[in-house]
Amino acid sequence: MLKITQYNDEVIKSNYDFIVLALFEKNFQTDVCLTINKVLNGALLAAAKEEHFTAKEKDSVVINTLGRLKAKRVALLGIGNKQEYNEQTSELLGQRVVKIAQRVSANTILLVLPPNLQATKHLTVISRSAMLANYRFNRYRQKKLPQSVPTLLAIQTNDNLTKSRFKSLQSYATVIASAVTLARDLVNEPPCVLYPEAFALQAAKQARFHGLIFKKLSARELEKHNMRLLLAVGAGSAHKPCLVHLVYKAKKSTRNKKPLVLVGKGITFDAGGLCLKPPTSMDGMKSDMAGAAAVLAAMTAIAKLKPAQDVHAIIALAENMPAGNAMRPGDIIFSAAQKSVEIINTDAEGRLILADAFHFALKQSPAAIIDVATLTSACVIALGNTTAGLFCNDDKLAQQIENSAKQEGESLWRMPLLTSHKAQLKSEVADIRNVGAREGSAITAAMFLKEFIGKTPWAHIDIAGLAMSKANGETKSATGFAVATLVNLAVSQK
Ligand code: BES
Ligand code: MN
Ligand code: ZN
Repeated sequence: MLKITQYNDEVIKSNYDFIVLALFEKNFQTDVCLTINKVLNGALLAAAKEEHFTAKEKDSVVINTLGRLKAKRVALLGIGNKQEYNEQTSELLGQRVVKIAQRVSANTILLVLPPNLQATKHLTVISRSAMLANYRFNRYRQKKLPQSVPTLLAIQTNDNLTKSRFKSLQSYATVIASAVTLARDLVNEPPCVLYPEAFALQAAKQARFHGLIFKKLSARELEKHNMRLLLAVGAGSAHKPCLVHLVYKAKKSTRNKKPLVLVGKGITFDAGGLCLKPPTSMDGMKSDMAGAAAVLAAMTAIAKLKPAQDVHAIIALAENMPAGNAMRPGDIIFSAAQKSVEIINTDAEGRLILADAFHFALKQSPAAIIDVATLTSACVIALGNTTAGLFCNDDKLAQQIENSAKQEGESLWRMPLLTSHKAQLKSEVADIRNVGAREGSAITAAMFLKEFIGKTPWAHIDIAGLAMSKANGETKSATGFAVATLVNLAVSQK
C-alpha cells in the first residue's frame, strides 16, 4: 500500500519526483506557489494563465521543472471554493493526486495542502482515498493492471499538526483503507468462487487473523434455528446457505452494556430465483453480497481499533437461483420469528434472509441493529449511484450514522419509513407478503424489514446503487461503500 509521511521542511528543498499544490479557488497564489514560481522563472504562473487555471474544483496544470527543481514536475490542483470544501472534496483530492502521479509516472509525491485548510479534520479521508486510488483486482488477469506507482506520498499540512497526531490519523486511514480493500476484493470475486460457504471460510480466516469470535450456522443448524426464510432463498442453489456470527469483545473494564449488531445481506449471486432476472439486470449480481462484505470488513477494522463497546456481525449467506427445488411464488414460509410470509416474488429475497438474520440479531440484546444491504433497485432510482438510502426508526441513531458518514465522506440520505406503504404488504393467506407495488418500493422493502425488528433502535442502509461503480467509464468495480461509516460509528460510540 501507498506509504504516507509528514513533510515539514521547505517545499523547494524537497526530494520528491512530483510536487502537487492543492489550492483553493481565487487566492491560489499562495506563498509556496509564488516561491516555486520564482525558482521556475515565472513559468508556473505563466502556465496557469495560459491554461486559464483558476483553481476551480477539477482544474489542474502540470509543468515540467526542466532541472530547476529536484522535482521533475509541479502540479497545481484546484479544489474549488473554500466554503464548498467538504469530505467528498477530500475523497476526490486523494484520488486525483494519485491518478495524476500515475499519468506522469511519478513514484514519490509531495502534496502541499492549502494554508487555510483544517488538515486535522480532512487528513484521514485524503490519505485513505489516496491509498485506495491504487486499488486493482488483478487476481484473474494474465496481463496485470499496473499497481506499483506511486509508492510514497508526503503531505505538508500547514497547521501545526504534531508528529504523533499525524501518525495516529495515518494509522486510522490505513486501517480503513485495508478494510475497504478487503470488502472490494470480496465483492469483485466471481460468484462461482465466492459462494456462501466460501464467504464463510473467508470470514473464518479474517476472524482468526484479527482475533474475533467466529461461529457459523450451517444449513443443518439453520433448520434447528427455524431460519426457514434463509433456507428457502438458498433452496434453488447447488450451494447451501449459511449464517456467520462474528463477535468483537471489548475489554471488560471499558465495555458498555449492550452490543452494536451489524447485519449484512450476503446473496453471493442473485439470479432472481424462479422470478428470473433478465440478463441485463443479472449482470453485476455477484455484488449482492456487498452488504455482507462491508460488515465483515468493518469488523476487521473494529478489531484493530478496539472500541469500548462489543460489536457483533451477523451475515446471512445464500445464492438465489432457479431450480426444481427452488422457492416458488405462492409459497408460504414461517420466519424464525414464526411470522408467516407469502412469497409473491422470489427476486425480493434480500428482505427474507434479513428477516431471519434480525431474529438472530435480536437475541444478542443489542443497543442497536444496523443492516447494510443491496436491497432495491428502487433505491437506485430514487437516489442514484452515489448516495445510499438510510431508513431508521430512531432519530438519535440516524443522526449518529449521518455524522459518521459525513466525517468519512460517504453520502447517505435519510428516507422515510411510511406506514401508508405497509398496507401493500397485507396478505390474504399469511401474516405478510414479500412485495408491494413497484412505486416507492425501497420504502416498502424497509417497511417489510421493520416488521421483524420491533422496538429496538434500528437502521437499514440500502446500498444497491453503490456496491459497484463504473471506474474509468467502462468496467464495473467494487467500491467498499459503508465500511468507513460503520467503523466510524463503532469507534465513536460513547
Ligand atoms: N439484489 C436486488 C436489488 C439490486 C438491484 C441490487 C440493482 C443492486 C442493483 C434485489 O434482490 C432485488 O432483486 N430487488 C427487486 C425487488 C422487487 C422484485 C420487489 C428490485 O428492486 O427490483
Ligand atoms: Mn433479488
Ligand atoms: Zn438481491
